[in-house]
Amino acid sequence: MKRLEALLSLIEDCQSIVDIGSDHGYLAKMIVDRNLARKVYVTDVAQAPLLVAKENLKDYPVSFFLMDGLRGFTEPLELAVIAGMGGELIVKIIDESREIFENLRYFIVQPMQQIGYLRKALYERGFYLEKELLAFEDKYYEILLYKKGQDQAYDFNLSKGLYEDLELYKGYLKVKKGKLEYIKSATFNRDQAKYERTLQGLDELSFHCRSLEIML
Ligand SMILES: C[S@@+](CC[C@H](N)C(=O)[O-])C[C@H]1O[C@@H](n2cnc3c(N)ncnc32)[C@H](O)[C@@H]1O
Repeated sequence: MKRLEALLSLIEDCQSIVDIGSDHGYLAKMIVDRNLARKVYVTDVAQAPLLVAKENLKDYPVSFFLMDGLRGFTEPLELAVIAGMGGELIVKIIDESREIFENLRYFIVQPMQQIGYLRKALYERGFYLEKELLAFEDKYYEILLYKKGQDQAYDFNLSKGLYEDLELYKGYLKVKKGKLEYIKSATFNRDQAKYERTLQGLDELSFHCRSLEIML
């Protein structure tokens, strides 16, 4: 499944939804086209992408906000999406509007990097990872659905349940392993701390594969 389709597959019929950092506005357009929400909000911190979204969504019943995350957002909200940003930025946006995120029915995040950091940070903040999906479009993307609630600790760098489609997950793990192998050789005799962290990452990956009976 492609990235935007995978994001959309997690959006249930709702009263209101916000796409935070919408850029082009494509996701909001798909939400309206499929009549998934009574009220759709599009936000971006930068003027230029917001203008592009306005152009792409001309005549669409969507409200636009130029804002940093959800700071100052006061409309009632049921769902939220934050996609296509780094994990640290996603956590920052959630931290700055914690009360809003805690009161959502659920929210969906799709980080471009720092996935382990994101999973751990949301676990520590009392958010429950209800569903994880893998999408493939030139590369692999992780899409995560969270709601307020205490979770159990798991391997934050790998996954809690990304393996619904085992063949897809296998390809994903192969890429992950290849990246770790590359970092391992690039840091050998250069950056001891990073080298050791990478070795540990590779060990965790093999343990994870063994526990799922996956051969890479
Ligand atoms: C790579 S685009 C992702 C676009 C879209 N969400 C997607 O997944 O296809 C990231 C967008 O997030 C916006 N952005 C970055 N930081 C933000 C913040 N703190 N609050 C709102 N938008 C932000 C950027 O201006 C940019 O338009």
